[in-house]
Amino acid sequence: MTRDDYKRLVDEALQQQFLTDADFPMRGLAEAMRYSLLAGGKRIRPILVLEFCRLSGGDVKEALPVACAIEMLHTYSLIHDDLPCMDNDDLRRGRPTNHVIYGECTATLAGDALQAEAFGTILRSGLPADRRARCAEILAGAVGLDGMCGGQYLDMLGEGKQLSEAQLNEINSRKTGALLIGACQMGVAAAGGTEEQMEAAAMFGAAIGMAFQIRDDMLDVLSTKEELGKPIGSDAQENKNTYMALLGEDACRQLVERLTEQAKNALRQAYKDTDFLFALADSLAQRRN
Ligand code: IPE
Ligand code: IPE
Ligand code: MG
Ligand code: MG
Ligand code: MG
Repeated sequence: MTRDDYKRLVDEALQQQFLTDADFPMRGLAEAMRYSLLAGGKRIRPILVLEFCRLSGGDVKEALPVACAIEMLHTYSLIHDDLPCMDNDDLRRGRPTNHVIYGECTATLAGDALQAEAFGTILRSGLPADRRARCAEILAGAVGLDGMCGGQYLDMLGEGKQLSEAQLNEINSRKTGALLIGACQMGVAAAGGTEEQMEAAAMFGAAIGMAFQIRDDMLDVLSTKEELGKPIGSDAQENKNTYMALLGEDACRQLVERLTEQAKNALRQAYKDTDFLFALADSLAQRRN
């Protein structure tokens, strides 16, 4: 399958989520959840789930609920990341942010509900029980105290302070890296893959995760809001520590290149047929949005 095929599969499955009747009392909440979930987005995490599942010998269709789940979880993280108490941004995926349309309370609840629905979607899937459990366990670890939420906390604590590169790496490996590692590993888990495949998936995810956040920091300075679909200069406005501010553009470019090669190397032992992931890693390193 091509990247577009995967994306279409995911988009079509997500379209079916949280549809309600006109008289459903929580219709407004469901609408807020769908608003951000279906706003577009590159669907990188679900694509990683599906490709790692395929590479590890699994059935892509069976892993589709797991792929949808990680996109729900990711969308929750974006809705909360944009809230006034966090990054205070008003544009996401080319549209006004969730709280701008639905208010802070509903936006908060939409994120909360998307997180719970992500776990529900995995646990209700048709995968064998042990694989469902493994996927849910991986996701919980990627998101919780040690993962995305922990990273978001450190990101907030670091605002206005001069952090070292090592401290920035720690923040980014949690706030962004953890979920990308989780995506790769959930694909392996959905397929019932080997420990060797699990380890390779984690190393690949960690390297593209770091490259992904460096590129994200670059685009916050170098892109336009039309192209990026989110505001430019948000990091400076919030006094964030970023790779752009710490290292400058040239060093960022070199680092992204090095990490992309590292990601590819991580796969060579455990996997053959890595063309898709190599091309994906390359395109993420050069992405414009
Ligand atoms: C944005 O993630 C948040 C970060 C972790 C940097 P994406 O760049 O994957 O956002 P979408 O899903 O394509 O909107
Ligand atoms: C946030 O990083 C990563 C998340 C956990 C959502 P950023 O705050 O840089 O992400 P963007 O730039 O708003 O997408
Ligand atoms: Mg943020
Ligand atoms: Mg942000
Ligand atoms: Mg950013």
